[in-house]
Amino acid sequence: MSMVSTYCPHFSGLRRSSPNLHNAPSQSFLQHFSSQLRLPSSPKPCRAVIAMSGSGKFFVGGNWKCNGTKDSITKLVSDLNSAKLESDVDVVVAPPFVYLDQVTSSLTDRIEVSAQNSWIGKGGAFTGEISVEQLKDIGCKWVILGHSERRHVIGEDDQFIGKKAAYALNEGLGVIACIGELLEEREAGKTFDVCFQQLKAFADAVPSWDNIVIAYEPVWAIGTGKVATPQQAQEVHVAVRDWLKKNVSEEVASKTRIIYGGSVNGSNCGELAKEEDIDGFLVGGASLKGPEFATIVNSVTTKKVAA
Ligand code: PGA
Repeated sequence: MSMVSTYCPHFSGLRRSSPNLHNAPSQSFLQHFSSQLRLPSSPKPCRAVIAMSGSGKFFVGGNWKCNGTKDSITKLVSDLNSAKLESDVDVVVAPPFVYLDQVTSSLTDRIEVSAQNSWIGKGGAFTGEISVEQLKDIGCKWVILGHSERRHVIGEDDQFIGKKAAYALNEGLGVIACIGELLEEREAGKTFDVCFQQLKAFADAVPSWDNIVIAYEPVWAIGTGKVATPQQAQEVHVAVRDWLKKNVSEEVASKTRIIYGGSVNGSNCGELAKEEDIDGFLVGGASLKGPEFATIVNSVTTKKVAA
């Protein structure tokens, strides 16, 4: 498996040469990929490669949650349409259901659209729910599932979320699969246990990992302004990648994007993006401002190192 393309790569799998102490839990795993690194012998016209442990393209999602009006969303879409976005990033926004049609019909094709939830199976007599078929009908390509607000405010459990993910994937939607620990779980030293249990529920249910992006979102960091440090995030992302390697496959571990969410903004994204296992972001509050969201998308540049 070669992880480095011979032209200016979007995602090279290139690791930084200086060892990072925070990677210690899965050093052997990283060494394994490092040993497979093949740098192009004569670099093509290319300014930089991206330093990432995984081989997936940088991914930034904007979760608008239950915010916006027709007018504010018209302005946000217009700001996004005129934003200059780095080309080597997958960009997705998730408006509230009632504005999906407005957004899919006015937003540039450069940005894909996600729903914030979907029903567990085929539509029918399920008052208040929205089916995957309806989301596809309206032009949605993704759905966010397992978000902490659905887990902890609405009360969705691991199995329910896993079934939703399986249905959405089987019907061809991409899934942004959220995991993350509560503050008391972190303080009790249970961060990895909680994340692995949530991950296992997805793994047990999904037909394939091809269209899944994992969003690690510590609950204590969501909407609180208390962002995880780059080291705290990197430590969990390494552990998640290692879990995928051991419990799914090496290929899935390498290909699956693991993005970070929780109080990401235009000022802290650059430092977070530098971490090797942070493959992008899921952004709440700061995604409601077009220029700031564009800054977060463009933080991919801090991952680039000279080729
Ligand atoms: P936040 O939300 O950026 O406002 O913390 C992130 C999320 O919930 O996805």
